[in-house]
This record gives sequence, C-alpha cells and structure tokens, in this order.
Amino acid sequence: MMKKHISELLTQLTLEEKASLCSGADFWHTKAVERLGIPSVMMCDGPHGLRKQEGEGDHMGINKSIETVCYPTASALAASFDCEVLERLGEALGDECQAEDVGMLLGPGLNMKRSPLCGRNFEYFSEDPYLAGKLATSYIKSLQGKGIGACVKHFAANNQETHRMSGSSNMDDRTLYEIYLPAFEEAVKEGKARSVMCAYNGINGTFCSENKELLTGILRNKWGFEGFVVTDWGAGKDPAKGIAAGLDLIMPGGYDVQSKQILAAIEIGELDEADLDAAVGNMLQFALDYKENRKQGSVIEREKCAELSAQLAAQCAVLLKNDEVLPLSESAKAAFIGDFAKAPRYQGSGSSYINTSHVISALEAAEDKNITYAQGYHAKSTLSDEELVKEAVTAAKAADVAVVFAGLPNDFETEGIDRDTLDLPANQNILIEAVAAVQPNTIVVLHGGAPMALPWIDKVKGVLCMYLGGQGVGEATVKLLYGEENPSGKLAETWPIKLSDNPSYLNFPGEDGIVEYREGIYIGYRYYDKKEMEVLFPFGYGLSYTKFQYSDLKLNKDSMADNELLTVSCKVKNTGEHTGKEVVQLYVRDEESSVGRPIRELKGFTKVALAPGEEKEVTFQLDKRSFAYYEPKIHDWFVESGMFRIEIGASSRDIRLASPIEVQGSIEIPFHYTVLSPVGTLKKTAKGRALMEKLLQSTTGSQPEQTDSLGEGSAKMMEVMMLEMPLGSLAGFGAISMEQLEEMITMLNS
Ligand code: BGC
Repeated sequence: MMKKHISELLTQLTLEEKASLCSGADFWHTKAVERLGIPSVMMCDGPHGLRKQEGEGDHMGINKSIETVCYPTASALAASFDCEVLERLGEALGDECQAEDVGMLLGPGLNMKRSPLCGRNFEYFSEDPYLAGKLATSYIKSLQGKGIGACVKHFAANNQETHRMSGSSNMDDRTLYEIYLPAFEEAVKEGKARSVMCAYNGINGTFCSENKELLTGILRNKWGFEGFVVTDWGAGKDPAKGIAAGLDLIMPGGYDVQSKQILAAIEIGELDEADLDAAVGNMLQFALDYKENRKQGSVIEREKCAELSAQLAAQCAVLLKNDEVLPLSESAKAAFIGDFAKAPRYQGSGSSYINTSHVISALEAAEDKNITYAQGYHAKSTLSDEELVKEAVTAAKAADVAVVFAGLPNDFETEGIDRDTLDLPANQNILIEAVAAVQPNTIVVLHGGAPMALPWIDKVKGVLCMYLGGQGVGEATVKLLYGEENPSGKLAETWPIKLSDNPSYLNFPGEDGIVEYREGIYIGYRYYDKKEMEVLFPFGYGLSYTKFQYSDLKLNKDSMADNELLTVSCKVKNTGEHTGKEVVQLYVRDEESSVGRPIRELKGFTKVALAPGEEKEVTFQLDKRSFAYYEPKIHDWFVESGMFRIEIGASSRDIRLASPIEVQGSIEIPFHYTVLSPVGTLKKTAKGRALMEKLLQSTTGSQPEQTDSLGEGSAKMMEVMMLEMPLGSLAGFGAISMEQLEEMITMLNS
C-alpha cells in the first residue's frame, strides 16, 4: 500500500516527470524535483569503504574517488564469523556517509562463492547462504541505523565475471531458493535493506532487470520488500519491461533515452501507468527518507576509522596451520620475505576499489621487532628472479624463523575477470619451497580473496590467511604473528585440494553465456561432505593459540512440531593458556529424507571470548526454517517429519557434540492419486497412511504362509514389490473390486 503523502505527491507530477524519475540524474545521483522539495540523493560504491567520486564518475574504479579508509573486504569479514565486526563496520560507514552526504552505499555483495575462480569473490562473503545472510544483516542494520541506505547486490545468481553482462545462470527452483536467494531474503526480511541492485545476468533465460518473478513475485510478494530496485550500472535493458517487472531506477543516469522509452511504452499501452506510479512512489519515498535522516554537519575522525580497520582485520584472520611455531617470541630473529611484506594486498580491483594512502605494511608495523627483509619476488610478475630468491634464502638461513608474505596479485582478483587457476604465481611457489628448504621454521602469510592451492603446505610450519584485510592488514598481521592478538577467524568457504574437486568445475564459466548450475544445491561443503571428499581445509575451520573444550549439549525438547522453537545450548571452555575467541557452529542434519539433502547445513553460529580456564554457555534458537528444504511442489519451505540431528562443531568437519531431535512437519504436500500411483505413495498423505494400515490389517492372516521358494530375503522383496505396484493392481489381483478402487481413489483425493 502506497503511503498517502506519496500518492498525493504523485498527483502533482506530470507524466514526463514521473518517467524521468526512473533513471538517474548522472552517474551517482537520483533526480530531484525541486518545486516539490524532492532532493537528489547520491549513491556510492562500497561496501568495505566509501568510494565517492567527486569528479567524473565511472563504475570500474578508474577515476579517482576521495581519499578515505579501506576496511577489510567481505572475503575477510566473513571469516570473522562475528556479527559485531559487521556492526562496527556498518556504523563507521554510516557516519562517513553522513559526513560526505551520501544517502546510499552500494553493498554489501551477497552472491555465493560458487567457484573459487570468480574474480569478485573478494567482494562476497561465503559459499554458505545462512552465514552470508546473517553477517550482511548485521552490517545493513547498523549502516541503516545511521540513516544511510544499504543496497544489496547483485540480485541474483551473479556468481562469476565471465559473460556477467549477458549470461544466464540456469538452475532448478530448489537450487535458487536454497542457495542463491536466502542471503538476500535474510537481508530483506530481517535487515530491511533499503534497496536491491538487480544483476546484469539472467536467470533461466530472463534478465534479472526484467524478471518479474524475481523482482515482484519473490522480492515484494514473498519477502515483503518495501524499498526500491536499482539496476546494476548498465544492467537496464528495456526500461518499460523492467518497470513492469518491478524495477524502479535505471543507472547510471544522465541520458533521456530511458524516459522517452517509458513514455512511448505508456502511450502505446505496453506499460501500465500504475506500474510507473509504483516505481516513482518508491523513489520518492527514498528521497524523503534521505531528507529526514540527513545529519547536517556530521564529521568523522579518519584516524579512528583507520584504527578500527586494523582492529577488524585482526578478527578476520584464519590460522590455517601451526606446528608449534606461532606465536613468535619478541626476541626471535625473523626474516620477513616477499613483496607483500612491504606492499600488502588488502583489497581487489574494480568498482569497490577504495582510495587510501594509509596502508601500513607488516614491515612498517614490525619496526620494533628483530626483523630483516628480503623481497623474494616481484609482485607484478609470475617469473622467478634467481637473485631475489638467493637473497631470501640467505636471510632465511640467518634467522630463527622466516615469514613469507605471499598471495594472489592484484590482476588475479578483479571485477570483470575470473581467475583460471587456484595456483599462486610460480615465482611465489618457487620462493616458498626454497626458503622452507633452508629454514625449518617457515611461516606463510597469505593475502587473497578466495582459496588458493598450497603445494608446499607440508614443508612449512605455519600458515596465516589474512584474506584481503583492508589498509590495516599489516598491523593486524604483526599483532597476530607475535601473539598480541589470537587468531579467531574460521573459513567461510572450503579450500579444495585442487580446482577440479570443486563442484562447479565442469560447468564454470559455462558455454556461450549459458551457465548450467548442474551441481544444484551441492555447493561448497554441501558437496564435499556428501561426496566424502578430502579437502585442504574444510568450511568453518580455523586454529587458535589456545584450545577449546565443548560440553553439556542441551535441547529443550527431544521432539517438536515444526512451528515450535527449539533452544539448544552448550558450554565452551578455554582449556589453553591464551585468551581467545571460539566460533561455535551449529549444523542441522536431516537423518531421514525422501529428497536429496546435504549431510549438514549451518543453522547457527556465535563467537565467544574466553580467558584461560573460563567457561561460558552459548545458546541458539532454531525454527522451522532450520529443518526445512524448499519444496517446488508447494512453492514453499517444507519440513518432512522425521529424525534430525543437531551438531555442534568447531568446523564443519570437527563436530564435537550431537543430539537427535524428532520434528513433526505441520503441512502435507498435496498428492493426486490415480490408478497408476504406486501403493507406496500412500505413505505420502495422512489419508493414504490410514488406508494402508487398514489394507494391511485386512490382508494379515489371509496371506498364505511365506515359503523360501523365492530365496532368502523374499519377504523383503515381496514388500518392495507390493509398494511399487500401481494402486490399480489391487483390483487387478482381486484384493478389492473396481468400484472399491474408484471409491478409494476419490476418497484419497477428496
Ligand atoms: C558493479 C556494481 C557497482 C556498480 C557501480 C558495477 O559494475 O557490478 O557492484 O555497484 O558498477 O559502480
């Protein structure tokens, strides 16, 4: 329902004005209607900083934006598994947007990390939609709490860069609803995201910007979205078709072609004026909200923001390996090796690129330590430089410990281009092997927004992954290496052993712009677990300098209806010697299901800080959705009655506690019986089950005694054959008459 003041404003606009409000004023602004007090609003890229272009706009990070603070990218933030980290970031960015008079930040990016190769993986959170949705919601709520709109992107199924502007992501409904939509759903329903950016690509052949099912059926009707839908920059195709489908704003603006097309479509009756009014109404509401929430004269202290950036980066690091080599002692003579020690990689390229000159390298941050430095490789090349390797080997030999800073170079991770390998540049692998050969205490610090292949993993003692941690990544790294901070991040994505293990491997990046998502719901750990495959590091994995013990798993009931809530609690104790934080993960496992389901799915997580010896209780609440799968037959989430298992783990492959729970589904999937329906389908409905019981009772006793003439197992065979028989054969075999059969089927379907 449109608000009254919006309806009134609409009556004061001419048709031309209305048509023009559906596209931007320029690259970054919406249009104003000054005579009605409707302001123009600036939207800027983020989401791990503010990319405000004061000069000429462009959307690939080519022209400079104002100098500001670069925070950890989504790839790092997700590894924090910490909603508080996202809240602090959202708040800081909200303040900054107020200070810079920006009304909307274009982010966060909620696409799934389907393949480790996606060039924009550094901008996305996870392979798990639940985790991505929860983290994004914390960010959105705190950003919007400051009066700044969040624009979740790229809606939907934009999981690669190849053919991103023209391709189609093709998949079945279960895959769409269970994997590629839930993070958006959470951001809209729970986070109340002010805006949604529709993706360039299509889904099953219909461009997202013209996809009525997506933009209206799902987004508005199913999820109750009340904000506005903006195209990704340049994703608008036919504006009239878009508006009829639920699109509100076409960006970038500055051209009058879209308005003309809209007017022409109205004139020939191809676009309903009511649809145009709905879009304009959404834009007016956004402009008025901006005006109301504007805090004139806001200022921010960039130094404090820089400190925050480094603090957050420390919460995101994942300790992948530690054979008692970390933390380093202050007195240890350490050789810092690698170009990235001097010039770290801390963000990716493209539209999210943040302009900052305050990047602190690990080398600078470790000034007060006992450090030597050797470059080891050229970050801009993949070719090994013998002299640099020699120098590095000499430095490594002369030290107590070698720390090699490695990772993906800039041009491996950028908007618009996918990677074609999991490998690090050859020069880095050669260097690490050479250093590890002379220095038993070798540690590798990794920078990059997605999984990498680590062929030398068995030859080094420690691996610390910083992902793309923002401008403070150097400071954070040094604090973590020397134990001033304790690593507490966990992987938000599985690291496969090799690229071909990845479930999307055979269908990435598709052919002729068509990407078949043939792996279906089995992405990330959902696949690796089901296939019982070895992985390099599992989802949810990450080490700490301390140890945690899990105990006392409690469920407040052992059976429940799916419309009830389940409370789960357990205790976690720090049994080591360092203060630390543990990410407690809750997975749900469907023990008996008539449809294919992953072994386990993340349905809860919490991060708990513990001093040595300290113990805390953590609690989770589970609802219907925690047990449900998307059932295309009813176009809704569905819980199939049966046994489930609640698992509490330190990772998806380190389950520490488990307990069964029986869940009773509250709805039944309608089933239409015919004479051809197998007898076994009677189990699908309550009426069918009652009838089956009756039939069994009436036939027991009248059956001739089983002989073993059909061999051992004949009873089982008979049962299975009976269940496979069509209902019609009950009459065929004379168990009931034709009339009884007809009556029975009518009764079942009534
Ligand atoms: C990107 C969006 C970005 C927009 C504006 C597009 O190329 O896909 O994420 O918000 O440009 O810069």
